[in-house]
Amino acid sequence: MSHTNDNQEVMEKIVALCKRRGFVFQGSEIYGGFAGTYDFGPYGVALRKNVVDMWTQSMQDHDNIALLDSSIFTAGRVWEASGHVGGFSDPLVVCNHCHTKHRADHLLELVNVVADEKMTEAQINALFDKHRKKLKCPVCGKKDFGKVSAKNLLATANLGMFEEGDAQVYLRGETAQGIFINYKNVLESGLYSVPFGIAQVGKAFRNEISPRQFLFRKREFEQMEMQYFLHPKDALVEYEKWKKERLAYYDLLGIKKEKLRFKRHDNLVFYAKDAWDIQYEFPFGWNELEGLHYRGDYDLSQHQKFSGVDMSVYDEEMKQRYIPHVIETSVGVDRTMLMVLADAYHEDEMNGEKRVVLHFTPRMAPIKVAVFPLLRNKPNLVQKAREVYTALKKEFIRVQFDDNGNIGKRYRRQDEIGTPFCVTVDFDTIEKDDTVTVRDRDSGKQERVAVKELIIYLQSKIS
Ligand code: GLY
Repeated sequence: MSHTNDNQEVMEKIVALCKRRGFVFQGSEIYGGFAGTYDFGPYGVALRKNVVDMWTQSMQDHDNIALLDSSIFTAGRVWEASGHVGGFSDPLVVCNHCHTKHRADHLLELVNVVADEKMTEAQINALFDKHRKKLKCPVCGKKDFGKVSAKNLLATANLGMFEEGDAQVYLRGETAQGIFINYKNVLESGLYSVPFGIAQVGKAFRNEISPRQFLFRKREFEQMEMQYFLHPKDALVEYEKWKKERLAYYDLLGIKKEKLRFKRHDNLVFYAKDAWDIQYEFPFGWNELEGLHYRGDYDLSQHQKFSGVDMSVYDEEMKQRYIPHVIETSVGVDRTMLMVLADAYHEDEMNGEKRVVLHFTPRMAPIKVAVFPLLRNKPNLVQKAREVYTALKKEFIRVQFDDNGNIGKRYRRQDEIGTPFCVTVDFDTIEKDDTVTVRDRDSGKQERVAVKELIIYLQSKIS
């Protein structure tokens, strides 16, 4: 992964802004932090909700996509059937000098060697040994590593385990399996028939060896996944359609086109027949945002085999039963948030002053409109501003009243959280013509708008 110091600096600035303004905090921070976990503050929760709502809406635009909310704890057999117990691991290697844990494939990547995901422990050890002389610890710089060992990524728990011999319990490693094990239930509810999709948003857990890059690789994270069940003869055409649709979707989120691209997987994970990623150019380089996988009938066949439940459907035309194939779209809420933040982050100068601004699209912005009284110590200004605020809040919900500090400081604060419009109640509002100023975040331009037209004016800008 290539990155320059400048870009690393941008990442650090985004992390600092997220903490300073109440978007994202390190998990368990007052106890020194807990690696791979982050907590979301007031604006983080609002941004997260916008990300989830927009994704859910994009799925609900299809009449044949059902929503699901399955359990995080699932029977151990689910993960045996899915192949995660046997085949879902990362290669761990420890630096003998500073004892830092690394992923062997990431160290190899730094010297341009690609390790196949399907390699056995012995194969990756052989590859690591071949390049060992070149491999330096990124933390201490020494060339002194131990042996590589494959570590399963599933996080375990003891929920419902009371006696020795009770089956191992796992926290789900992907939301997709919740969808596969409920496919029959959704089908039998009678509302859908093949082709149809099931979409789910929810937490997943992975015992990542080296969680890193802020929200990019977490141990507890949230996925937005959709599995589309179809006849195998339609799979390739539908796969192309979904690839096109998912890329176009990022336009709605206001993401710069030149920062997105498709990349085919060099190595296919165990369940995939074909796999492409939509990559985003994060400050630390191009990296996976969303995975589009053609999973064939792997998952349903495995669950049929392990559970004994018939997963096939009847093909009227061919007069025979078949197991539907699956196209999956899989994207992280956290990765989307990081992309949206990185894409929106900008430093510029306005009216001779330096500022940091988040250029969120209005739909993505945590706060849509901020309302200020020009002066906080003039009761008639404050009262009128409160009235305007209450009226706007009924319409836009995410509206903030702000009378802290001077007006310049309020603009800076709202720019930093990406509020697209600031409304100020001043003396003209009260004494002259019942108009307010509306200031545009991106241009800094102000317009006077009649209070009675304010909702319509803002609606036209926000939607
Ligand atoms: N379901 C695909 C993934 O978790 O990456």
